[in-house]
Amino acid sequence: MIAWQRTHGRHHLPWQNTRDPYRVWLSEVMLQQTQVSTVLGYYKRFLARFPDVRALAAAPLDDVLALWSGLGYYSRARLLHRCAQVVVAEHAGAFPATSAGLEQLPGIGRSTAAAIAAFCFGERVAILDGNVKRVLARVLAFDVDLASGAEQKRLWQHATDLLPAAGIERYTQGLMDLGAGVCHVRTPACTACPLRVRCAAAASGEPERYPFKTRR
Ligand code: ADE
Ligand code: SF4
Repeated sequence: MIAWQRTHGRHHLPWQNTRDPYRVWLSEVMLQQTQVSTVLGYYKRFLARFPDVRALAAAPLDDVLALWSGLGYYSRARLLHRCAQVVVAEHAGAFPATSAGLEQLPGIGRSTAAAIAAFCFGERVAILDGNVKRVLARVLAFDVDLASGAEQKRLWQHATDLLPAAGIERYTQGLMDLGAGVCHVRTPACTACPLRVRCAAAASGEPERYPFKTRR
């Protein structure tokens, strides 16, 4: 995964090549429900208008919502603003340096906290966003319904067990890059995938059958 990311992954997204938690946090929240191509313009405008967490916290909510307009899921913008205010008021303007600390903040769930902690602080912790769930469910041929909380918990445990001893930043980015560019929902490009040799779904011949979904 790590070697593949080095040669085939993305390296020039605007939120890469920085360890500034403000920049990484902003990108991860925007990317929670929105694709990269859409986020690019919004991210640039946000940073120009709010260059740091204090600028964002001091802004009127209406300004934040106006700049968010078009990105959708507006509760994200409200939580983003609230989070900036909490970081300034309760953490002296510095984001907590652990996934556990980050997860306490408004709008930061387990996977977003883990992504920020891995990218900014090198914390060895698993992410599990929608794309990565699909990749792992396929590698493991996880043929149980992920709507189940107990099964989600098992998948988080697998994601944790699979973490590399070193290189968490590149590994994390690699999983995201693979989920977005190779392990597509329909017709995954298994022949181009570094995980193919250990992917149970690819071995089954029908990788797109995973992740398993209960018929309604
Ligand atoms: N989606 C969520 N986080 C991402 C990142 N850091 N790079 C690309 N896509 C992402
Ligand atoms: Fe996805 Fe295919 Fe790679 Fe398995 S081998 S992780 S199904 S792209």
